[in-house]
Amino acid sequence: MGDNLTKLTLPIVPMSATPGSHPSTNSPDTPSLPALQLPLDEELVLKVIPMPRDCNQNGDIFGGWVMAQVDLAGAVIPARYAGGRMATVAVNEFIFKQPVRVGDILSFYSKLVRIGRTSITVKVEVYAENFRAQGKYTKVTEASVTYVAIDENGKPRPVPRLPE
Ligand SMILES: CC(C)(COP(=O)(O)OP(=O)(O)OC[C@H]1O[C@@H](n2cnc3c(N)ncnc32)[C@H](O)[C@@H]1OP(=O)(O)O)[C@@H](O)C(=O)NCCC(=O)NCCS
Repeated sequence: MGDNLTKLTLPIVPMSATPGSHPSTNSPDTPSLPALQLPLDEELVLKVIPMPRDCNQNGDIFGGWVMAQVDLAGAVIPARYAGGRMATVAVNEFIFKQPVRVGDILSFYSKLVRIGRTSITVKVEVYAENFRAQGKYTKVTEASVTYVAIDENGKPRPVPRLPE
């Protein structure tokens, strides 16, 4: 996944803009930057602003905090299919390419990858946007997360619904 972990930029989109259509003009802070897009085939499942309590002494956000947010965000789509309790069984590797700082706005995008017999796997991508430079995005990390539908005894149970 290393190649696509690059600086991304996106012009600020007016509230009235049609989803997926971004204005061609850049803000004064982003002269002549290419209008790269956030993933259009993924769903925004979480937006969150880290707080000072989520930092180390250098003002950078703990990786573990970001991982916890990925676990929460990743559960949104599987919850539609699981029809009840579920547990995280696996997360593939996290590689953090960019630090996250207090004041960044984090956006978590997700899409369904696979529904198995008892498990549901999603991809989650995390983008950071500085509060003072909104519309300029940096990809922080991505992961694939697998959740298992479980019964009242914590044992795997079949996923009741198939994808539409
Ligand atoms: C999740 C749990 C109930 C699964 O029980 P299990 O007996 O290991 O389940 P199985 O081996 O039958 O696997 C269940 C499903 O998980 C999938 N799975 C298991 N290990 C996996 C792995 N390492 N990666 C991806 N999928 C995995 C299996 O492929 C199977 O999916 P499928 O039915 O769609 O084919 C059990 O491992 C558990 O309770 N783990 C702790 C969960 C938890 O507490 N998470 C939070 C940690 S803080």
